Amino acid sequence: MEKPQKKKNVLLRRPLVSIAILLVAVLALVLGLVFGLRARHHNSSGLDSSGSDFAEAWNQPSEFLLSKNFSITRTPTTRYYEWTISQQTIAPDGLERPMLLVNGMFPGPLVEANTGDRIVVKVTNNIVNGTAIHWHGMFQNGTNWMDGTVGITQCPIPSGQSFTYNFTVPNQWGTYWWHAHAASQYIDGIYGPLIIHSPDEPHLADYQEDIIMMIADHYHTDSGSLVSWYLSPESEGAEPVPDSGVINGRGTFDCSGDAQALFPTGNKCNNGAPMSLFNFKAGTTYRVRIINAGGFADFQFSIDNHNLTVIEADGVDMQPVQVQRLPIHVAQRYSVLVHANQAVDNYWVRALMNTNCFNTPNPALNPSIQAIIHYEGAASTQSPNSTDWSSSAWVAVCVDLTLDMLKPYFPVPVPPADVSYHLDISFQTISKDHVNMGYMNQTSWRPLMNDSTLFQSQRGISTFDATSPSSQLVIPLNTTNGVQLVLNNLDEGSHPFHFHGHVFHVLGWGHGNYQPGVTPLELVNPLRRDTITIPAYGWTVVRFVNDNPGMWAMHCHISWHSESGLMVQFESLPDRIRAMDIPAEMKAMCAASNTMKS
Ligand code: C2O
Repeated sequence: MEKPQKKKNVLLRRPLVSIAILLVAVLALVLGLVFGLRARHHNSSGLDSSGSDFAEAWNQPSEFLLSKNFSITRTPTTRYYEWTISQQTIAPDGLERPMLLVNGMFPGPLVEANTGDRIVVKVTNNIVNGTAIHWHGMFQNGTNWMDGTVGITQCPIPSGQSFTYNFTVPNQWGTYWWHAHAASQYIDGIYGPLIIHSPDEPHLADYQEDIIMMIADHYHTDSGSLVSWYLSPESEGAEPVPDSGVINGRGTFDCSGDAQALFPTGNKCNNGAPMSLFNFKAGTTYRVRIINAGGFADFQFSIDNHNLTVIEADGVDMQPVQVQRLPIHVAQRYSVLVHANQAVDNYWVRALMNTNCFNTPNPALNPSIQAIIHYEGAASTQSPNSTDWSSSAWVAVCVDLTLDMLKPYFPVPVPPADVSYHLDISFQTISKDHVNMGYMNQTSWRPLMNDSTLFQSQRGISTFDATSPSSQLVIPLNTTNGVQLVLNNLDEGSHPFHFHGHVFHVLGWGHGNYQPGVTPLELVNPLRRDTITIPAYGWTVVRFVNDNPGMWAMHCHISWHSESGLMVQFESLPDRIRAMDIPAEMKAMCAASNTMKS
């Protein structure tokens, strides 16, 4: 399935270019220090970015190697970042297209902190549309208005203006990410890793190096155009299928042949764009943090010849469990331990898109997204000869690892089902215009314009239907108790559902209809995580404790589906929402004349 990769060292053959790149890199480092960005150092025994033989301003491989010099401590500090969002043309897979980038980087900058730290990010919006940044997985307990969700916790940051996110991170650690939460913007590039460390992490002593692999599907067309197409009769409800994929912002695309017709005319396309490359040292154990930052595709992740020991899912530590292939749906994260115990050589990292879960084929797509692991001492110019694990481990449907595989390291008691809600997920055709829209029960979500449901709740508007007929399904939760949700998926596709501000206790999932009493629920130390895959024509039962005041989104993280309406909101503890001291500048952003279209 893979094609030979031969271009990754093309720059090394041109000494002048290499020297120029070195000078640029030195300049960038000096500027980084001047502007207070944290310089990353790697001790000589550890990973270094010799993958940077293809570093470009928009993509620095060293960004994904967590520094050994980061001090993991209980002493809190403030992590300050300044970001500018702008449109730039780059070629992540060799084909140039305009993208939306933070500080010109793809993926965007790493946010790294300890439990207890304060994170402050000044975001300046230099794109034509309004935007907002969501901190995926952060509990934001007491700071719901910093959740960064357009129409729910804020109005968009208007074009040309700045807004500063400011929140603390008590009581959680692990692998998270941040992304734009305004229309489908993150698909155009506004995403990056968010890593929280703690001296209390149970697996800290089990690895020596810590690296990030952000995998994502990649489209050659801007997401706004794709949403318009998807929500038109023309699509007949079929989601846009990716054109390629990237690992840490790098992929390859075959510019020749049939594919030629499929990408926007006039865009430059370079065959053999370099893939991401990770240097391994024999004998070392790596913590690899895998983040699916894509918009649609479910991936099966593997590394040839190397077992993966899962130790974390969505920020929750797990009892170690070994797999060869790891299914990871949109917005989910896993940490795996990888022991560099194989012969000194080069090996493929594979993120295989599960094309069975697409409605239509894309002939231009090579669904096998790859990166290279290069053992120190192996011939560096050679692409790996390694072969994929046998197909027996391949799962043809898009589902998560089973619940008996994912057991939390620290048990937390399951709350009782003091209240229970049924939520049906479906697509329904609006007869008038023959468009297929996503529904949670009988509501298809649209973001409020110039307002947010959080602000409405604060103003005491309890009947959301009054302002925006049938576009907001808001479930009020008035007391601190246990809440059970029965999610029934009436659709033929699987849906990765994410709950803002919480982790779910996942008591069970299965195919067909949930039959209370028939399928036993797991009530002893069940999986906890913030994004769960609800199987096609299947069900999932979850519980959570309603102890976090605010307006919390829960939605399918497939961008096309949230844009088509698969979104519900929980109004947690309205009395405490009314007492929230939300900065006046946030309300002011609602008054601004604001472009916020897909
Ligand atoms: Cu990753 Cu509603 O977000």
